Amino acid sequence: MSIILVTGASGRTGRRVISQLIARRQRIRAFVRRPEAAQELLAMGVNDCFLGNLERDDDLRSALRDVSGVLHICPPMHPDEDKIAAAMIALCEAQGVERFVLYSVLHPLADVPHHRRKLAAEHALINSSLAYTILQPCRYMQHLNAIWPQVRDAGRHAMPFSSTARFSLVDLHDLAEATARVLVEPGHDYATYQLAGPARLSMEDCASTLTDLLGREVTAIARSDEEFRRDAQAAGMPATRIETMSVMNAHYTAHGLSGNANALRWLLGREPTTFAAFVKRELMGEA
Ligand SMILES: NC(=O)c1ccc[n+]([C@@H]2O[C@H](COP(=O)([O-])OP(=O)(O)OC[C@H]3O[C@@H](n4cnc5c(N)ncnc54)[C@H](OP(=O)(O)O)[C@@H]3O)[C@@H](O)[C@H]2O)c1
Repeated sequence: MSIILVTGASGRTGRRVISQLIARRQRIRAFVRRPEAAQELLAMGVNDCFLGNLERDDDLRSALRDVSGVLHICPPMHPDEDKIAAAMIALCEAQGVERFVLYSVLHPLADVPHHRRKLAAEHALINSSLAYTILQPCRYMQHLNAIWPQVRDAGRHAMPFSSTARFSLVDLHDLAEATARVLVEPGHDYATYQLAGPARLSMEDCASTLTDLLGREVTAIARSDEEFRRDAQAAGMPATRIETMSVMNAHYTAHGLSGNANALRWLLGREPTTFAAFVKRELMGEA
């Protein structure tokens, strides 16, 4: 039976996609860099784990042995994302991998460093001999999870960009399901799918929905770039990532991030999850 290599396997996206793939009885090799993560993924049901570093070509080569398909989920904002993708794609060609699914981002053309590196990865892929699918997800609804205690307990919905900028926020659960379907079901070769949520929502829109759901006033607060930098430095975020996120936040303030939900709706065969349904399911523990 064929085996699928999943990179970024122990991350937020990787774990949810792997759950969906296991539910579909797929054989999975998880690329992980920490032994503890390997134990967790084996307990979830992956068939084997390759312990390595995506920055090392020898590790990529070994991880790809006997693999039929790849889901490449690069670590977010990795400074060498384009180089890692190019190396993986060349090795997949050399080793006869049949399918390559690239987890990219909505609007890789945007003037944001990590979007441009994903654009370079897409470029390498469409110029390869591989049967590929490119997935372009919008911003996750799950960004709310990290600030949930302040939202619930203090009524503060604070993020470091304009409170009126709109995003086609998408549920990671829907993305994981769509990604698994693209990997497992036939008919997705050479497609590029924009994966956006069902509504264009600003922080103010989200705060209004949260006010209704929680029965308390929730206020949208645009944090300044200075506040963002101060807190990110205090949390030990690498300087290059702070710079990338600062550019991204400025881009969000100017343009938001909007897409169309039709491809996701078609892939899921149902309506994509709304923001209210996501909050109830994932943060309020309602079915
Ligand atoms: N968040 C969004 O709204 C959004 C929207 C569109 C696209 N995306 C894309 O989604 C992708 C996944 O994001 P995520 O939030 O799921 O990531 P994440 O939770 O930060 O997970 C990153 C994963 O990469 C692994 N990793 C990091 N450096 C590595 C290395 N050198 N070698 C091997 N593995 C390494 C991490 O391993 P450890 O467990 O050891 O740390 C972890 O499994 C990113 O490419 C991001 O750009 C995100």
